[in-house]
Amino acid sequence: PPTHIILPSGDRMPSIGLGCWQSEPEALTKAVAYAIKVGYRHIDGATIYGNEKALGEGIRQSGVDRKNIWVTTKLWNDDHRPDDVVKACKKSLDLLGLDYIDLWLMHYPAATDTDPNNEVRIKVLDIPYTDTWKAMEDCVEAGLVRNIGISNYSKTEVENLWNDCRIKPAVHQLERHPYLPQKAFMKYHKEIGLHVTAYSPLGNTNPSFADRDPLPPIQKNAAVQALAKKYSISPANVLISLQLSEGCSVLPKSVAPSRIEENLKVVELSSEDIKSIANSTQGQRARYCDFSEIIGYKYYEGLDDSD
Ligand code: A2P
Repeated sequence: PPTHIILPSGDRMPSIGLGCWQSEPEALTKAVAYAIKVGYRHIDGATIYGNEKALGEGIRQSGVDRKNIWVTTKLWNDDHRPDDVVKACKKSLDLLGLDYIDLWLMHYPAATDTDPNNEVRIKVLDIPYTDTWKAMEDCVEAGLVRNIGISNYSKTEVENLWNDCRIKPAVHQLERHPYLPQKAFMKYHKEIGLHVTAYSPLGNTNPSFADRDPLPPIQKNAAVQALAKKYSISPANVLISLQLSEGCSVLPKSVAPSRIEENLKVVELSSEDIKSIANSTQGQRARYCDFSEIIGYKYYEGLDDSD
């Protein structure tokens, strides 16, 4: 499968990135340094993960030149006021210990604030994401970030932004695995030329999703297991390979050295292979990262059983 994705800026983004959500800072520094040592060149962080400092430290400990590593991080929802955006960007740079970010994503198309009375933890603010985006564009023009993109947008939100921006989003990062293939939404991305990065490619193995999982673990799926056998790789490798073979970049998360290394073993799946997974998961749909509470409205795109 392709080792890099060429973005509209001409930059080459490595197609496998190390996911950093739910990694404790100390473990993350070690995980990042180890990942770079075994060949990763793409690390996917976010301000809300609370570990940007540890991420930057891991890059320095690896000894590999920063310019050879792709660093993604994300603007959190409480920094959506246009005046706060550049400050948030500089704060991320400061924590990471870097002087530019390769890819900066708007984490959600939703502005929120902490309620000063603390009665409800999150308050949704009326700040259009198109205004927040304009301030992110300013950060590109100021040389603080090389590429900007989005995450967790619905189709309507992508359309609104796509038609009201100076710099088009380079990437859309969203949840994607065999229980959430989002065929029609994927086709739409292809049509407009917006690259998709898949998070949670292993879906239900994430402990924080355990109580939300109505379905058998996707790694136990018979078609996934059969392909693992066919190619002498692990079921996780099949799931990571699936994303790459469908044209996405992919972000497996791990802090365990053995799994960090294992997750790089990918193969090109044939269209028959891909179809076998689709057939065996037909009608089984789940979105593990249900962020309705964060954004203040229900988001169900892609959960249609027929999709
Ligand atoms: P750990 O960090 O202990 O390796 P996802 O990327 O879909 O969000 O899944 C992440 C979860 O899957 C984490 O709990 C991670 O745990 C686990 N994981 C990562 N790689 C593998 C693998 N190769 N096999 C099994 N579980 C894995």
